[in-house]
Amino acid sequence: MKILRYLTAGESHGRGLAGIIEGVPAGLALTAAHIDAQLARRQLGHGRGGRMKIERDRADILSGVRRGETIGSPIALLVWNRDWKNWEKAMRVEPGGGPAPRAVVVPRPGHADLVGGVKYGRPDLRDVLERASARETAMRVALGSVARRLLEEFGVSVASRVVSIAGVEDPTDAARLGAKGLNARADASPVRCLGREAAAAMVAAIDAAAGSGDTVGGVFEVLASGLPVGLGSYAQWDRRLEGLLAHALMSLNGVKGVEAGLGFAGSRRRGSEVHDGFFRDKTRSGIVRRTNRSGGIDGGISTGETLVLRCAMKPIATLLAPLPSVHLKTRKEAKAQVERSDVCAVPAAAVIAESLAALVLADEFLVKFGGDSLAEVRAHHEASKGP
Ligand SMILES: Cc1cc2nc3c(=O)[nH]c(=O)nc-3n(C[C@H](O)[C@H](O)[C@H](O)COP(=O)(O)O)c2cc1C
Repeated sequence: MKILRYLTAGESHGRGLAGIIEGVPAGLALTAAHIDAQLARRQLGHGRGGRMKIERDRADILSGVRRGETIGSPIALLVWNRDWKNWEKAMRVEPGGGPAPRAVVVPRPGHADLVGGVKYGRPDLRDVLERASARETAMRVALGSVARRLLEEFGVSVASRVVSIAGVEDPTDAARLGAKGLNARADASPVRCLGREAAAAMVAAIDAAAGSGDTVGGVFEVLASGLPVGLGSYAQWDRRLEGLLAHALMSLNGVKGVEAGLGFAGSRRRGSEVHDGFFRDKTRSGIVRRTNRSGGIDGGISTGETLVLRCAMKPIATLLAPLPSVHLKTRKEAKAQVERSDVCAVPAAAVIAESLAALVLADEFLVKFGGDSLAEVRAHHEASKGP
């Protein structure tokens, strides 16, 4: 992140989540309602656990906004954890209070528990999982909503949809539909999947896994439409747009693979079936592509076509029928500790990934068209269109 910078803080069952985003131009319309709408979308999806029934995520804007407009100063946000009241003793900030309840001493395979405990020297693995938990992503969604607001001003839409869950695939070609209006369709489905039959089969797969104490993962797509040509660059490795986006998306808990455009599928085809030919366009004075197999990026630069990114999310690590593990104190083999957990979080992950992509795109937008006020950014954006 070059111009927009952000940080989050907060534990899963602590008092709440805090975030700061800096570099947002002044004069951008922003209210808590903009943020809350995205936080609500993150809470949905078939397969979520009990926690999402407790929380009603809302953002408190502490700074950087006055009378509904950003003023150029850092924007600080808070999202309170309603569940905190059930954890006050376990998550006590002050010393004392006797032995901490709800200690975790049998690490869950596939989670951060064991490596985190070793790395930070914490015998109670709660100190690890409280921060490694995806609860933190609520704040990333809140901060990403600010980035999304900026992009909206310039006609950029960011959306997502679920492609597959537990191997059940939706054959709909969303890349052709583009991002605009996509979320309205995806959000109407309990698994954020466009195809009805596929959605029903996904729900059944989630229920079947839950029934046997197991979990599932899946694949989702993030799309952005209305992007200008020229975000990112080949001029230096750390400016390539797909690299920046892949970093952000791989930083999402549970995501183990990211593709741009045809991605891995392209590697199995010939060049003639992969690259997007150029054609003369008579309606505009230019050159057009008739296909978008590259997914909107060539040479690390946005092409102006729809950005198409795909992420693979592994199954949730906490199983109700727990995996083999080792008790850290007795050193005896034991079943992994069970925390209240989701069975599938692919639909929510897709919503979070939208925010992560929006943060990268807004940052690159400001790198190219930046200014201290929205008016300045707009002027630079207009000027880039040429006479
Ligand atoms: C929205 C969302 C919800 C998640 N819910 C859970 C959960 O309830 N239980 C769990 O074990 N993992 C859950 N995860 C995944 C873990 O956070 C993740 O696997 C863990 O932090 C280890 O990181 P890694 O999988 O990236 O290696 C969730 C991830 C996301 C994005």
